[in-house]
Amino acid sequence: MSVVAHMKANTPQSIAARKGTTPIVCLTAYTTPVGRLVDPHCDLVLVGDSVGMVLHGLPDTLGVSLDMMILHGRAVRRGVEKALLVIDMPFASYEESPQQAFRNAARLIAETGCGAVKLEGGVTMAETIRFLVARGIPVMGHVGLTPQAVNAFGGYGVQGRGKDADKILADARAVSEAGAFSVVLEKIPESLARTITREISIPTIGIGASPFCDGQILVVDDMLGLFTDFRPKFVKRYGELGHAASDAIAAYAREVRERSFPGPQHTFADLPPAGKPL
Ligand code: KIV
Repeated sequence: MSVVAHMKANTPQSIAARKGTTPIVCLTAYTTPVGRLVDPHCDLVLVGDSVGMVLHGLPDTLGVSLDMMILHGRAVRRGVEKALLVIDMPFASYEESPQQAFRNAARLIAETGCGAVKLEGGVTMAETIRFLVARGIPVMGHVGLTPQAVNAFGGYGVQGRGKDADKILADARAVSEAGAFSVVLEKIPESLARTITREISIPTIGIGASPFCDGQILVVDDMLGLFTDFRPKFVKRYGELGHAASDAIAAYAREVRERSFPGPQHTFADLPPAGKPL
């Protein structure tokens, strides 16, 4: 039995009930082994559409398809037992109508076994969130910098400075009132994150949104330092795995070239030494 099998799994309800209590720990994952690594430490694991940029080398998240989300969602499902598994609805899979959103969210849930979906947008998506929630699909919102709107924003800059703050507060309120169980606040100033967290009744999960949120999320590859050249201000690196991997690969290449790998301990003899299993 796995170590976490006896623990109660997190649900949208248990996450919502954490509002104003202990910080909610969230990370992304896109594969089974990474799902297994993060699950014991996290309350919520997100299969983000950032998978397109992080694993597939896309320039933004706009080219990510529902099929890609299902494939990665199924992989992460096999590694996650305790955390609530949430999957991003990719660009153009939900904006057209609540009915389109329901069809695609239902596929994500039925084909991956995830516990909830996440979608970007505030006031304009409130009707869709209400429609999904009323039909049994738990929804996590996402406001502030919404990467699927990169072309409309003209980049990935901080949102909600100055007069735009009221719009983002209205977006967060709309998501909360529509029935979402939590909302991601991305790349907004500290004062706005504090106000939103105080004003709405669901947990806020920050990424570049100060410590004054009900929880935090990071892209796991970023916080592990898997990219040697990508260092956004809001990411703290808890490891330097990119450098470690590069050093390991260089050592392998050197040993292959000088024929010191494989060594005798990695090589099969014709007959095993007496007493050793085949
Ligand atoms: O796609 C993603 O990974 C996300 C998180 C960064 C919140 O939306």
